[in-house]
Amino acid sequence: MSTEEEQQVSEAQIAVHWREEEFYYPPAKFIGQANASDPAILDRFSEENFPECFKEFADLLSWDHYWHTTLDSSNPPFWKWFVGGKLNASYNCIDRHLEKNRNKSAILWAPEPENEEIKSITYQELYHQVNEFAALLRDFCGLKAGDRVTFHMPMVPELPVSMLACARLGVIHSEVFAGFSGASCGGRIADSGSHVLVTMDSYYRSGELVDHKVKADEAIATAHELGFDIAKVLVWRRYPGKYGSKTPMVEGRDFFVDEVLKDFKGKIVSPVSMPAEAPLFLMYTSGSTGKPKGCQHSTGGYLSYVAGTSKYYQDIHPEDTYWCMADIGWITGHSYIVYGPLALGTTTVIYEGVPTYPDAGRAWRIAERLGVNIFHTAPTTIRMLRKLGPDEPAKHNYHFKHMTTVGEPIEPEVWRWYHDVVGKNEAVIVDTWWQTENGGFLGSTLPGLQPMKPGSCGPGVLGVFPVIMDEDGNEVEAGSGRAGNMCIRNPWPGILQTIYGQPERFVQVYYEKYCKDRNSKDWRDWPYFAGDGAVKAADGYFRILGRVDDVINVAGHRLGTKELESASLTVPEIAEAAAVPVVDELRGRIVEMYVSLKPGFQPSKEISDKVTKAIETEIGKIARPKNVWIVQDMPKTRSGKIMRRVIAGISNFTDAGDLTTLANAEVVEGIRHHVQSEKLAKGDVPRELSPAEIDEIKAFGSAE
Ligand code: WTA
Repeated sequence: MSTEEEQQVSEAQIAVHWREEEFYYPPAKFIGQANASDPAILDRFSEENFPECFKEFADLLSWDHYWHTTLDSSNPPFWKWFVGGKLNASYNCIDRHLEKNRNKSAILWAPEPENEEIKSITYQELYHQVNEFAALLRDFCGLKAGDRVTFHMPMVPELPVSMLACARLGVIHSEVFAGFSGASCGGRIADSGSHVLVTMDSYYRSGELVDHKVKADEAIATAHELGFDIAKVLVWRRYPGKYGSKTPMVEGRDFFVDEVLKDFKGKIVSPVSMPAEAPLFLMYTSGSTGKPKGCQHSTGGYLSYVAGTSKYYQDIHPEDTYWCMADIGWITGHSYIVYGPLALGTTTVIYEGVPTYPDAGRAWRIAERLGVNIFHTAPTTIRMLRKLGPDEPAKHNYHFKHMTTVGEPIEPEVWRWYHDVVGKNEAVIVDTWWQTENGGFLGSTLPGLQPMKPGSCGPGVLGVFPVIMDEDGNEVEAGSGRAGNMCIRNPWPGILQTIYGQPERFVQVYYEKYCKDRNSKDWRDWPYFAGDGAVKAADGYFRILGRVDDVINVAGHRLGTKELESASLTVPEIAEAAAVPVVDELRGRIVEMYVSLKPGFQPSKEISDKVTKAIETEIGKIARPKNVWIVQDMPKTRSGKIMRRVIAGISNFTDAGDLTTLANAEVVEGIRHHVQSEKLAKGDVPRELSPAEIDEIKAFGSAE
């Protein structure tokens, strides 16, 4: 970092002022039935009992062979949990529930078209489907423990069936969110070295039967360009026997799962006993630099962690009907639709489509119809439901005891609507802060024991000790009103093991910044750097401000500026590109692109459309920018770095900050005039920003 960039305001130096919110207390009825209602649990998980306290989570699982060492920290930061133990994740999520709950629903699936029946898959049925698909993966595809398989699957029960079939064999699955493009999927196939792709012909989204198989062909083409070839593509069909895609099947490569499965009817595969340390799955996520990184999660540590947090924070009991409306294509769905709830033997609801399709009452009709009592979603969805149907929940006869919010900061006002209207003043709320890398929640409230505070996630969860650090590694004191970098002082069982294939990048991204001694074998010297800015109130509750590392959180989805920029640069006319976040009332942040053209090209709508298209193709429609601004020259430092904070300020109608470090400050006014007059003409002006949001925009781009 050059001195001129050092003068920029960094997240860790910002003082944040907001109104302290009042506590809300859980209803007595909730406390009476809560899994954690005795405060003794807080002592059991106190720092002096770390790491042994996590035995309690591990004991929620059935081990084939019990472990001998809780935490092996002999090779930091490559932590090993429950060393010596052996278990199978599919056995833990299915087989062990059969004796008592064979014919209880494991999965309730709501298709998007309302005229299609809800599908109930009992634990017994799930057992058979998983065994048959595991037999197919093993005997038809030749897969064995340690191999990787990429999934590009939508929200259908065949996705958890595929995940659990892999887990049964010790095969590592890597699910790519169905909304991502074929090219993104291809990149992940190549990075993970998967020889098999599991996909679906089509699925419903906003009333339309989307052709999905077409993306498989694009994925394979991209993987091929990267030097990697897929041997087999397994295509589940939305309607078995009826192909819902226009793309031809490739002879010898593509197979309909429903046809091949006929040979595996009734097959049983014994669960392969895996070491606790064996990877269970990869989940790719964006960072500030380079390509998405494959977060590698373990079998024993991860499963213990999601079972423990599902039990105490989601308050899941086996008799609950639990609905998490996230997508299984994200970590939230892996941990809190599939692995956590099924490990505890509850009923988990999966909904195929859009929460507001065909109208704002849809989610509440599903909740009423299925008797959902635990509900889990993201602030973007809450904002959307509130905007489209503020009075809808009252019209439906459902009763939640518990609700979760995850993925983005929630505005206190939105929180109160969630609590009063969606929760009908009967439900507790847990605001859960965590990341793809973390496996499970890191900051939240124990719902029966700790009061809620709108807009704050709460303290560190059981056995997790967060700290806010300034740029120099000093602790920022609670109640100081100063923001800093959110870090975790200790390892926990759900943490990623590494970035797949890139151990040095793993160390660098999460540990380099604050490691006190690279040779130390003491975990206390290795705080985990989360990449979020946060403030700690005097009561120990954390308020998360957002990313400090040039990742833009759009509707709870992480988009790396680098990925957006490299996608834009695939357009031949584009010379330079910069992505910036713009505050959006519904989706938290949206993306705007600034591009400059190579000599000889004139700005045109055609070129900006090409940029949008390139982003959709390379990443997916979720990354589509709100605007693409073609500028003559980007504001740059003397060392040639694009000053993203300056253009971010323009897009957000905030102060562009100090311009004295720019080599070409004269371009700023021209850009401001061009962008802001066009936005004003379209009525595209963001609402008034909070001080914390202004600070975020000011600091944007300083992480590089
Ligand atoms: C943000 C999603 C505020 C944060 C589980 C984090 C949150 C990123 C919250 C991770 C929350 C997640 N309050 N911000 N409760 N939860 N975030 O990897 O910036 O998709 O770093 O994991 O989302 O996003 P990811």
